[in-house]
Parts: sequence; C-alpha cells; structure tokens
Amino acid sequence: MRTIEWTEDMSVGLAQLDDDHKGLIAILNRLYDAAQGDGPEDGAAATRALQALADYTDRHFGREEAVLEAVGYGELAGHRAAHADFVEELNELAAAFDARRNPALAAELAAFLQRWLTHHILVEDMAYKPLVQGNATAREACRRFAGRPLARAERARV
Ligand SMILES: [Fe+2]
Ligand SMILES: [Fe+2]
Repeated sequence: MRTIEWTEDMSVGLAQLDDDHKGLIAILNRLYDAAQGDGPEDGAAATRALQALADYTDRHFGREEAVLEAVGYGELAGHRAAHADFVEELNELAAAFDARRNPALAAELAAFLQRWLTHHILVEDMAYKPLVQGNATAREACRRFAGRPLARAERARV
C-alpha cells in the first residue's frame, strides 16, 4: 500500500499550516495501514482514521480560511467552496465505508483522499503562498485561531 510523505515542496510558507498538512498526511497514512488488513479491528481503525480526518480537516480548513481572510486573499470564495466540497465528499465516503466496512473500499477511499489532498496542497494551497509567506498578519491570524477552544480533533485524539 502506498503512503505519502510531506516534503519541502509542499510548504505553503507558514509553519502552522505546514504542520496541519503534515498531520493530515499522517492520518491518511493510518488509513492506508488500516486498509491493508481485513480483520474487524482494521475496519474499526479505518473508521477512526476517517473520523480523525474529518475532525482534522475541519480545524485545518477553519485555520487556513481565517488566515486567507486576514490577508485579503482574492480567491478565498473559491477556496472555501473547494474545502466545503471536500468535507461533503469525505462525509459521504465515510458513511459508505461505515455501512460496508470493506477493506478494498478503504484502500480506494485512501487513494482518492491522497489524490485530492496532494493536488489541493500542491496546486490550490500553493497559490496563496506568495501572499502569506513572511506575512505578519497571516502569522497573527494563525496565532489567534490557535487560541480558540479545542476542536473535536484534539479532544477525540485516536
Ligand atoms: Fe486549502
Ligand atoms: Fe490546506
């Protein structure tokens, strides 16, 4: 099963957002691991990984959008829409997986999520890099967001 690694060429120029992307990739790799087995515990692990991915993306998208709003990113509306589409698709896929708990489906799901995330980070997120890199307003927006109450992702860490 193919797993992915965060590399420097994925850097969007803001450490906290890079850390979020590293976290997303780590969860995705857990999903890959779970998809390799076919026991009931693997199905449960895949479900937990999907739940963690949903929680983590929720927090990451929120943080990223807060930063882009703070710096007045011109493509924010389209970027927000791409995030919302992903959340919807992830929820549908997770529900379909939960209903069938099929390891082949988990592998398919992981492959789809990997394609989406790498494309999104390398193309769509990368487009805002020139605006946020070295930008004190962007860093401040990140800091303020980090001060919000903990999201479900932190409370239900698996
Ligand atoms: Fe994004
Ligand atoms: Fe992102």
